[in-house]
Amino acid sequence: MTVKLAVFGNPIEHSLSPQIHRLFGESAGIDLSYEKQLVPLDGFADAVQAFFAGGGTGINITVPFKKDAFEFVSRWSEVARLAGAVNTIVKDTDGKLRGENTDGSGLVSDLQNNLGWQLKGKSILILGAGGAVQGVLPNLLDAEPQQIVIANRTHANALKLSDATADERVIACPLDDLSGPFDVIISASSAGLGGASTKLDLPVSLLGPNTCVYDMIYGKETPFLRWSESLPSSQCSDGLGMLVEQAACAFNLWFGVKVETRSVLDQLRTDKQKV
Ligand code: ATR
Repeated sequence: MTVKLAVFGNPIEHSLSPQIHRLFGESAGIDLSYEKQLVPLDGFADAVQAFFAGGGTGINITVPFKKDAFEFVSRWSEVARLAGAVNTIVKDTDGKLRGENTDGSGLVSDLQNNLGWQLKGKSILILGAGGAVQGVLPNLLDAEPQQIVIANRTHANALKLSDATADERVIACPLDDLSGPFDVIISASSAGLGGASTKLDLPVSLLGPNTCVYDMIYGKETPFLRWSESLPSSQCSDGLGMLVEQAACAFNLWFGVKVETRSVLDQLRTDKQKV
């Protein structure tokens, strides 16, 4: 029997998740269908209910429904509870829906395993203080960094996030007061979604000779990555690996199978070059 999965979002056309999960299904020998579902902004709960009533097994949740998903489900993993957001829904054997969040483990897995960047004992700067940051902080802290500095256009939002995290390693710092270099800089700002033309005003002193620079956005040349690539010393990556890794974590939650991700990531990069 074909297992029914989907990703819910609005917009959703751009999503690569169907392609990723199709490749995972092939490699794991699991017969699955995985649809993109454009959900009306006020129709999240109805859409989830209809999906599971129709025999669905699991859903991924993307923008802007991760908080709605958190509120909708009746139980949560520890990480989802800490993140206050859900990106994967699993139907438990008793029929109850469980909210999980695999964004943070996807990010950490991409940074450490795919890119070979160290986080333990390192100084990390995160640019942005929205839901995307809140979602990955628990896993980043589990990787035992020395500190995580959060800097954001609206400093009050960075402060709110650091207060809510209640971990002394997490510090909010106004953008103008940042003092580098950092070992790892992660952009989680949605500014880059507007494309590379957005102005970026970051001091070069944030980067040291071995700084690793990561943008959670993929499929676009962001102003942040363009800035870091213009400086000779840093290593850079977009967020495509995070996308694949968070999907692999979701696949494991649904099927108990750890899929190999390297070939899927390579395939997506090849496809991108062809476009
Ligand atoms: P997400 O859930 O994807 O994190 P979000 O909650 O809307 O989305 O957060 C977007 C983040 O990008 C915020 O940190 C936002 O800064 P503010 O807190 O000041 O709103 C940041 N952001 C969005 N547009 C930006 C821009 N043009 N310049 C700088 N930061 C921007």
